[in-house]
Amino acid sequence: MRRTKFARTLVVGSALVMVGLAYAVLVPDGAAGADGPQSQQIEEGRKLFAVGCSSCHGAHAEGGTDGEGHITGPSLIGVGAAAVDFQVSTGRMPAAQTGAQVPQKPRVYTPEETAALAAYIASLAPGPAIPAEEAYDVSKATQEEVVRGGELFRTNCTACHNFSGRGGALPNGRYAPSLMETTPKNMYQAMLTGPQQMPVFSDGVFTPEDKRAVIAYLVSLQQSEDPGGFGLGRLGPVSEGLWGWLLGIGALVGVAVWIGAKTPRVKRDEQGPKG
Ligand code: HEC
Ligand code: HEC
Repeated sequence: MRRTKFARTLVVGSALVMVGLAYAVLVPDGAAGADGPQSQQIEEGRKLFAVGCSSCHGAHAEGGTDGEGHITGPSLIGVGAAAVDFQVSTGRMPAAQTGAQVPQKPRVYTPEETAALAAYIASLAPGPAIPAEEAYDVSKATQEEVVRGGELFRTNCTACHNFSGRGGALPNGRYAPSLMETTPKNMYQAMLTGPQQMPVFSDGVFTPEDKRAVIAYLVSLQQSEDPGGFGLGRLGPVSEGLWGWLLGIGALVGVAVWIGAKTPRVKRDEQGPKG
């Protein structure tokens, strides 16, 4: 009797501890909804912007021009957090020099700094927000979704990005990049914000379901790019060839040993009765 009571108390007690731990782990710090942390983030973003972006985009992101009236950077009022996250996480911004097109490069800002910059721009005027992970998580996408995404891609995107998504040249030294390395999040954000020559595929025209389908299709293309085919350590043909070679040679050696071991005995046996 006493023991079962004690065991029950133990079970209930440890269950409570587990719930407490799960709560502490799952509920993020800022969940209290207080204004404090957020305005602090905006303030941090404003400072980062003043140092790294205002020289081209203006002191208050209103857009900037050089001494001769050429635009050094467009106004960012209303471009939204998604545009900032896309541009900064792909390393396009801060732009290094002005050319036909601002290229991708290794990102300069950490994810926290990027979030602060995005929060600052979003605080100036409403614009497309950074999508929630559910919007672009296609790990559970169905085959129909992939097929539909392929149709949408061929209708809306191949003119610039090529049938295989590997990109292509555009007039005046510009280009549509390959999409084989792009993350699902940035696929979504590119459609949402239309960087440079790319049109905006706003949610009204191209629904979130359409975007998800296209992302599911592009991710399936990226996965089928795996050069090894069987994913042998993702080393591609080299590792596959090596395995083929080892197995093949191994089999040959095995056969040779087998023949070597077998033949003399058979001969001896055959010779036996005769001799
Ligand atoms: C050397 C100048 C330069 C600097 C520095 C720079 N930008 Fe830009 N930025 C540009 C130009 C030029 C464009 C327009 C590119 C185009 O559309 O061809 C642009 C475009 C953008 C866009 C896209 C706007 C849209 O309509 O979608 C965002 C967002 C942006 N910049 C954010 C930033 C942020 C944040 C920083 C600082 C971390 C920064 N930029 C630093 C020149 C600059
Ligand atoms: C008119 C030509 C055009 C069309 C149509 C177009 N894009 Fe783009 N896309 C571009 C250009 C140009 C860029 C590069 C912009 C830049 O460098 O800032 C781009 C960039 C992208 C990127 C970012 C890639 C990276 O490496 O960061 C993605 C993702 C993308 N496009 C997806 C799509 C999808 C999906 C569609 C169809 C729904 C589409 N695009 C339609 C021209 C186009």
